Amino acid sequence: MSESETASRQKVALITGGSQGIGFGVARLLRAEGWRVHVTLRQEGKQAELEEALGAGSVRVGDLTSPEDAGRIVREVVDAEGRLDAVVHSVGPYLTAPLTETTPAMFESMFQGNLMTAVHVADAAREHIRASAGAYVFFGCSGLERWRARTVTTAYISAKAALLVFMRGLALQEAPHGVRANMISPGFVPHDGAAPDTLSLELQAKIPQGRPAKMAEVAGTARWLISEESGHMIGQNLEVAGGWML
Ligand SMILES: NC(=O)c1ccc[n+]([C@@H]2O[C@H](COP(=O)([O-])OP(=O)(O)OC[C@H]3O[C@@H](n4cnc5c(N)ncnc54)[C@H](OP(=O)(O)O)[C@@H]3O)[C@@H](O)[C@H]2O)c1
Repeated sequence: MSESETASRQKVALITGGSQGIGFGVARLLRAEGWRVHVTLRQEGKQAELEEALGAGSVRVGDLTSPEDAGRIVREVVDAEGRLDAVVHSVGPYLTAPLTETTPAMFESMFQGNLMTAVHVADAAREHIRASAGAYVFFGCSGLERWRARTVTTAYISAKAALLVFMRGLALQEAPHGVRANMISPGFVPHDGAAPDTLSLELQAKIPQGRPAKMAEVAGTARWLISEESGHMIGQNLEVAGGWML
């Protein structure tokens, strides 16, 4: 089989926010398993380093709060690969601040970063993911569906709750097209550049399982959710949290 025939049979994933953290972990795992991966970031600084790890032409630059950037990035991937099989949407900014110090602009930015980026990417990817009967994975956060009040993360959790409802609507809408959408809700997944709360040993000590998640546990769940093994699951939110917020 020629190199171009091999490439045309490989599945293609767009991993938004894959320049670091969970998205990068998912991208590395999928690439190691033969997927062609494309990651996004907002600033070009890390492009060369990322392409070394993930392959030439695997990095797309843009701000996904912009529907134009989301559309352009999806077009670039499909132009380069001829198909798109999975979107793993790892963009999702975090904010911790008491409500009294959380301004309307901060709420707006949480909804833009967590909800609207997902809306723009799903809109841009729709026809291509339908064509491949592919899958979407989004990221929530642990405890989301127990609707607990939070003292310092209300804006972030509000935006994740909206994302959960969006993910379920998308799952229902796309099911007749053979497309699936699901969510992973992590507790703590430490990595370079993670938020200070994620790296806090004091908080990690309170996780019932006694440790934070390993990157492989979260990335492996994403890989499973875009595989045929989870083919009858739609609209689900899987917690990978070691009992945090249980
Ligand atoms: N890590 C955890 O413990 C944890 C826990 C619960 C939930 N989660 C959720 O899991 C997901 C991944 O978490 P993470 O810790 O890996 O996140 P992260 O370290 O903050 O990485 C987020 C990525 O998104 C990119 N990004 C941010 N805003 C963007 C935008 N507007 N347009 C395009 N790219 C943008 C960032 O790249 P640039 O800044 O370079 O553009 C970065 O690559 C998020 O949804 C997060 O809320 C994580």
